[in-house]
Amino acid sequence: MEKIIDENKQGQSLVLEQKEGNQRKLFIESYGCQMNFSDSEIVASILSKNGFNTTQNLEDADLVLVNTCSIRDKAEQTVRKRLEKYNAVKKINPNMKVGVLGCMAERLKSKFLEEEKIVDLVVGPDAYKDLPNLVAEVDEGRNAVNVILSKEETYGDISPVRLNSNGVTAFVSITRGCDNMCTFCVVPFTRGRERSRDPQSIMEEINDLWSKGYKEVTLLGQNVDSYLWYGGGLKKDFEKASDMQKATAVNFANLLEMCATAQPKMRFRFSTSNPQDMTLDVIEAMAKHNNICNYIHLPVQSGSNRILKEMNRQHTREEYFELIDNIKRLIPDCAISQDMISGFPTETEEDHKDTLSLMEYVKYDFGFMFAYSERPGTLAERKMEDDVPAETKKRRLEEIIVLQQKHALYRTEQHLGKVEEVLIEKESKRSDAHWSGRNSQNTVVVFPKENYQVGDFVNVKITECTSATLIGEAVGYSENN
Ligand code: SAH
Ligand code: F3S
Repeated sequence: MEKIIDENKQGQSLVLEQKEGNQRKLFIESYGCQMNFSDSEIVASILSKNGFNTTQNLEDADLVLVNTCSIRDKAEQTVRKRLEKYNAVKKINPNMKVGVLGCMAERLKSKFLEEEKIVDLVVGPDAYKDLPNLVAEVDEGRNAVNVILSKEETYGDISPVRLNSNGVTAFVSITRGCDNMCTFCVVPFTRGRERSRDPQSIMEEINDLWSKGYKEVTLLGQNVDSYLWYGGGLKKDFEKASDMQKATAVNFANLLEMCATAQPKMRFRFSTSNPQDMTLDVIEAMAKHNNICNYIHLPVQSGSNRILKEMNRQHTREEYFELIDNIKRLIPDCAISQDMISGFPTETEEDHKDTLSLMEYVKYDFGFMFAYSERPGTLAERKMEDDVPAETKKRRLEEIIVLQQKHALYRTEQHLGKVEEVLIEKESKRSDAHWSGRNSQNTVVVFPKENYQVGDFVNVKITECTSATLIGEAVGYSENN
């Protein structure tokens, strides 16, 4: 592999791995969750063995792939708009082929070919290894579709090509699919049943990243705390495993410990945790290892017990508080973030107030907040009426966002005056004289560059803050450096 250092528009250097001898150009872009971005790196790796190098230029592409998201209607509309753009480019470059990957591919299947004439190829999240065959079909002038969901595929044997990488932080996927069946969510339908990846292959990928200079890994899954390896197979079939398999099984806390011990100077993060699956041993592993970051993304969706039940979330508001209390007891400075949905079917003003009061209790560091969007095929769509008026959803969402901003500022203010370890990731967007990185709690920290470099662990004294950013001054390398 030859490495080309490229300068993107922000002046940040991108490392693109290019394989010599590859003649064709792949333009790949991703929408939606981190898993999609991670999957695109797997796709780029598969196609790099089949004649394709990536390009940053849509106009140059022989093959355009868009990795899509179905989580809300708006996400799908964004992708449809992108397809219009590809259509315009195809007028200049008529040989260009277009493929749709990810959740929209899985949801719409061959309907995509009818609805969007520009599309030549439709590939679901478990079928990426079939891409070379599917591309060959398209080369011969036929459309190609593979949306078969798998019980085993984890792409554990594929070494991803790091796209748009800063060379410092990387995602490593550890589970695929989701069995939780939250009634609002399309993911179990588009990404299939939950399965975990062999810890051996996870460790190999992490060791390889370390040897290439990476300093931080985020372990990814729809529901990482439910990670369970017992030799392969679906999570739901664990009961049927042999005694030997059960005795040697690796759960999420075990996996975290394995990672933290194998690479003691590397930072580890993980996302996402469903509160119902987060056990005490995970929090204990975090507390024990300094290199597991003190940050948990812990979506709750609603503060009302009645709505949580309608959403098929398997915990109550009280159980959630207990979990928060345990986290804060074992890791007092642990940052916590939420996902929240406003206007789920039947949500009353009272339910909404419960959400606000839950937020007051936790005072989240960050939040990702959405108005409910009905998704075809979900239980909520089939059984419930989308009965909260759009204006009410919007008003409640705004109230949630305003409260979140207040809490975010309260949390960033707690960092003032402290000296915190920051991993430098890139130049600050606002100033080329400043570095930007994150502290253990995942808050962005900006400080003057001096002689420090991207990839350094630096102790930074925090002197100012906004609700989203900490500003400070370096006081020296951290002992982790
Ligand atoms: N476990 C996942 C969560 C999936 S989706 C993960 O790893 O991120 C991310 C968030 O989108 C959810 O937590 C939820 O808050 C939001 N979301 C999902 N379906 C939605 C819908 N139908 N309408 C609005 N928001 C939704
Ligand atoms: Fe979706 Fe619930 Fe799984 S939000 S991804 S079904 S945990």
